[in-house]
Amino acid sequence: MSKTFYIETFGCQMNAHDSEKVVGTLEQQGYVQTQVEDDAGLILYNTCSIRDKAEQKVFHRLNEYKKLQGEGKRFAVIGCVAQQEGEKIFDKAPYVSIVAGSASYRNLPSMLERLERGESRITGLDDKKTTETFETPFVARTNQHRGYITIIEGCDKFCAYCVVPYTRGNERSRTSDSVMEEARRMADAGYTEIQFLGQNVNSYLDPLRKKTFAELLVAVGELSGIRRVRFTTSHPRDFTKDIVDAIDATETLCDHVHLPVQSGSSRVLAAMNREYTRDWYLERIAWIKAAKRDISITSDLIVGFPGETEAELMETATLMDIVQYDAIFAFKYSPRPNTPAISMADSISEDDKVARLKVLLDRQREIQRISYERHLGEVMDVMVEGHNTQRVQVVGRSSQNKTVNFTTTSPILPALGSYQRVRVTQTFPNSLLAEAI
Ligand code: SAH
Ligand code: SF4
Ligand code: F3S
Repeated sequence: MSKTFYIETFGCQMNAHDSEKVVGTLEQQGYVQTQVEDDAGLILYNTCSIRDKAEQKVFHRLNEYKKLQGEGKRFAVIGCVAQQEGEKIFDKAPYVSIVAGSASYRNLPSMLERLERGESRITGLDDKKTTETFETPFVARTNQHRGYITIIEGCDKFCAYCVVPYTRGNERSRTSDSVMEEARRMADAGYTEIQFLGQNVNSYLDPLRKKTFAELLVAVGELSGIRRVRFTTSHPRDFTKDIVDAIDATETLCDHVHLPVQSGSSRVLAAMNREYTRDWYLERIAWIKAAKRDISITSDLIVGFPGETEAELMETATLMDIVQYDAIFAFKYSPRPNTPAISMADSISEDDKVARLKVLLDRQREIQRISYERHLGEVMDVMVEGHNTQRVQVVGRSSQNKTVNFTTTSPILPALGSYQRVRVTQTFPNSLLAEAI
């Protein structure tokens, strides 16, 4: 087998960052990454299982891979579908050599050695209940200016609809010392933005009991060279007021909280096992809105959960009116294997789910059209992310995580990853237009 590999990644930011660590580990073992499937000796497929018959799509994709078989290629299926389907993958796709879930990646070097010895059916599935986290100094980050740090892995919340507790194992945090060390190394390497990741990032519990989540945010925000600290995703159940106080007191902490509500109906929330009510959620929103800084709030929503009534959908819509989200990610409920909700009748038709989704998305568009107007004339710093040569615009990102397209009179376009002060000249429902000052 040639020691070249190709990797394809699906799913959330945690998966994207896992792939950066997997790539780093492979490179450390002497492998070379290629961007072309055909050139690779080893093809890795980092999978997501969150919605929409994800496992069927993986098997479909593997069937396509099968055509490449016979050229000495080896295949690895990793990530959430790997953990969920386990050895069934070998049965359906015998040419796959490795099946490994994220809780086993720390064993990748030994899995690779076995692969090189010609073994097949190599699994990394048996340590779902591990208390260890995947920590490695070998991270092949794809961006040189902003980077992720996973501070907590797994999920113990068991929402009725969700696969994550079954695919990523139980909740376990890294020590604050280890997080600080990685953040310091990143700052020394020139990173200015760090984003903490976790399925429930604010459920962070320092095994050393030295720092709370809010204290860890502040400590990283105070590192020399660090200009922005973000964190995602926050769970309302564990959202504490000291997080808001930390954002207020520390300018480098970005003024944005992603706090998924899922539904505005307390009855639906109870059926989802979210462990909070509409009022509990709105109390946390009130803390955020009472902050001195204008903290942007975003959310995930699910429509068509089994038994959701039209009136309950409207409770979600009225909650959106109260919160005035700056962005939402709304999904049609999708029945998933192993979850309690799969045995509840999926009572809302696909057409109804589509219609309900549209109700929320239309409403949200109107909310954003008006609420983004508050930025008109505002002066802000944006991090440069790209250049739009056609329209001579530079694409930047605000601290609130909004896209800001701006023009500049300077003959030299600002460098990627640099910061530029701009004034907002026009607002849209999903972006801001500005000019460099
Ligand atoms: N841990 C985070 C989010 C994890 S998954 C949280 O609890 O907020 C990202 C989003 O996918 C969820 O917020 C939810 O809105 C959506 N999601 C998860 N399972 C789903 C399912 N079975 N059907 C539809 N959407 C789902
Ligand atoms: Fe899934 Fe709920 Fe855990 Fe989020 S908190 S990952 S929705 S089980
Ligand atoms: Fe998907 Fe697994 Fe992330 S299911 S959303 S890749 S945690």
